[in-house]
Amino acid sequence: MHPVSAEPLDLQIYLESTLKPDDGLLQRLVRDTYAHTVHPRMLGGPVLASLLRVLVALRPPRRILEIGTFTGYTTIQLARAARDAEIWTCEPVEAHASIAARYLEEARVAARVHLALATAQELIPTLVAPFDLVFLDGDKADYPEYLSLVRPLLPVGALLVADNTLWGGKVANSAVNDARTEALRTFNSLLANDPEFTTSILPVRDGVTLAVRC
Ligand SMILES: C[S@@+](CC[C@H](N)C(=O)[O-])C[C@H]1O[C@@H](n2cnc3c(N)ncnc32)[C@H](O)[C@@H]1O
Repeated sequence: MHPVSAEPLDLQIYLESTLKPDDGLLQRLVRDTYAHTVHPRMLGGPVLASLLRVLVALRPPRRILEIGTFTGYTTIQLARAARDAEIWTCEPVEAHASIAARYLEEARVAARVHLALATAQELIPTLVAPFDLVFLDGDKADYPEYLSLVRPLLPVGALLVADNTLWGGKVANSAVNDARTEALRTFNSLLANDPEFTTSILPVRDGVTLAVRC
């Protein structure tokens, strides 16, 4: 069970019970993440992965950018769902990236996944448009900056997906004013008021924003 969620616990357990369990490779990746990283709850988890799979199936992307690889859970899920896609993903913490690199090899997707040991701020300026799907899952304090950085990479029709945009419900609690919560409020408001995006925030897990460039 992946407990980071704005949903009640019984609903999370039910939602996960409706999904096929992760295969052995992903289960080992999750165990290694819990054994060798400080914040294993950052893992995306099966409910988020099921949404990513549906989005990929709706319109199979050719070029995907992921911000925040962590140990590779969502990278592998995206690579498996989008079999024809090339994926660029970045992770600045070596201890995370090395676990991801190992599992990307084992999942036999490493040949089409470009894993950069870098921040989004370092990687994105080196990339060339277009990307059909961008998945934001890095530091929540940086989300407004990620939005300006990725905008030039997104042609009309491209999909931007951002995880954790309800931040355990904190964005809706005016008594909470820490930097990450404030940054997520800014990000949500920027997208909601941007005529170049059609946006919806789904209260799935910790909040998942879908925004289509129009
Ligand atoms: C929530 S985790 C990503 C989870 C991953 N997508 C998954 O579902 O397994 C966020 C990751 O972003 C990384 N990160 C932090 N700042 C970043 C930045 N500026 N650019 C890219 N990644 C960053 C963190 O080190 C962390 O591993």
